[in-house]
Amino acid sequence: MPGSWTLGIVKPDAVAGRKMGAILARIEERGFRLAAGRMVRLGVPEARAFYAVHRERPFFDELVEFMTSGPCFPVALEREDAVAAFRAVIGATNPADAAEGTIRRDFAESMGRNAVHGSDSDENALREIGFFFTEADLARLAG
Ligand code: RTP
Ligand code: MG
Repeated sequence: MPGSWTLGIVKPDAVAGRKMGAILARIEERGFRLAAGRMVRLGVPEARAFYAVHRERPFFDELVEFMTSGPCFPVALEREDAVAAFRAVIGATNPADAAEGTIRRDFAESMGRNAVHGSDSDENALREIGFFFTEADLARLAG
């Protein structure tokens, strides 16, 4: 059954720590279809554009430095109620506050190095999926 969409990213700390396979397995176990994914090394302009909504926040430069520090793995995910369901699966931004069984509780190191990203609204999910993937990338695996 087709659902709604969200954009997840396995962040550089989790890729470098070889947690990507375990995190993608967890995502599949929780009912998401992995429609597209690829390894990317973001440059500073790309990371600043992706997180533009946070550009006035005190942690912005630190966030950009971290997201460009190594490869990350964006994934386009499909599931019923995808945005809210994925944010429940990843857990609170600070892993110290993340509930048991969440990805951040199990794999994140800190508030900054927190293993995964998840879109925060349907509108942002579509913008963020479009940032990394074309329609053809998604369609290729959909049929
Ligand atoms: P994300 O966008 O990565 O899924 O995380 P989120 O919605 O849970 O958190 P958000 O408020 O959107 O913040 C984006 C990312 O910025 C880093 N951050 N650092 N040092 C700090 O106080 C701080 N606050 C946020 C985190 O990596 C967070 O995921
Ligand atoms: Mg966010």
